[in-house]
Amino acid sequence: MPGSANASTAFSPTFAAVATFEEAAPRYDSSGAQLAGPIADRLVSLAGLRPGDQVLDAGCGAGAVTIRSARVVSPGGQVIGVDLAEGMLRRTAAEAAGRGLANVTVRRGNVSRPPFAPGSFDAVLASLVLYLLPDPGATLRRWREILRPGGTVAFSWGIRPDPRWSPVFGAVDSYAKGADGFEAYAGRLGSPEEMTAMLDAHGYTGIRTSTHTVPVRYTGPRQWWQASWAEAPGLAWQHIPDADRDAARRAAFALLERMREPDGSLVRRVEMAYAVAHRPPEGSTGEGRAAAIPGPHKAAGR
Ligand SMILES: C[S@@+](CC[C@H](N)C(=O)[O-])C[C@H]1O[C@@H](n2cnc3c(N)ncnc32)[C@H](O)[C@@H]1O
Repeated sequence: MPGSANASTAFSPTFAAVATFEEAAPRYDSSGAQLAGPIADRLVSLAGLRPGDQVLDAGCGAGAVTIRSARVVSPGGQVIGVDLAEGMLRRTAAEAAGRGLANVTVRRGNVSRPPFAPGSFDAVLASLVLYLLPDPGATLRRWREILRPGGTVAFSWGIRPDPRWSPVFGAVDSYAKGADGFEAYAGRLGSPEEMTAMLDAHGYTGIRTSTHTVPVRYTGPRQWWQASWAEAPGLAWQHIPDADRDAARRAAFALLERMREPDGSLVRRVEMAYAVAHRPPEGSTGEGRAAAIPGPHKAAGR
């Protein structure tokens, strides 16, 4: 049920999502338009990582969060990037090697059931991932188990698409046969308040949420089209029959031509939310009250 933080067992996108990201892995986050990077910057900063921390980057993709975290937890800390798409793991491993980061490892696994012992991590981070998983609540419970007492979960999700772009996505979505449109996926986790309630219900404490608008700038319609197919909109658009793809592209481009900025670029403002919360420290009842506090906050209580 899109839009509800409590929902979800009916929605089971894991295999379709992973197949899409596997296919897109060589091109993911490499169009030149900046989306994953600015979100990862903010998420890693909010997570309050420290040198020496052991970190899981759940659904690491091409490594946006893995790489940034690996720098922050040095010296002494380690980051493990987990993804089901082998191509994404290769991207993350190559990005780490290219930057000389020896404290990164990658491992194939399903982050809905991460293959780690209880208490393994100081922090579990996940950027742009939780909304793809079949049962976000159960996943948050599993992530809580693999955190050490007092450990931190931090993740991002999209809360509001740019309304100026809805007709563009709608035009392309209308060619995707039998699939939910992209914006239904994007709105699936609900508001920060709903997420706060979900984290509270699953035993987290010290919950903080914040929002931030990311202006994603494209050189023009063509760059947006290429980026979209290698990112989440591809989940819906893979259902467009080959014979209709040109028509879908032309429909979008006709709308986008009227949306260009004075310099010819296109700007999509994506409203993101971030949550940071903690496994209760040892000896606590784990029933601390959650508080939704607007604006970015550094994690507290570690
Ligand atoms: C939108 S990408 C985000 C990647 C990265 N975190 C970033 O910020 O760029 C989502 C990633 O989650 C991975 N993924 C989706 N479902 C998964 C699952 N159940 N287990 C592991 N990885 C999963 C996909 O393969 C993809 O790499």
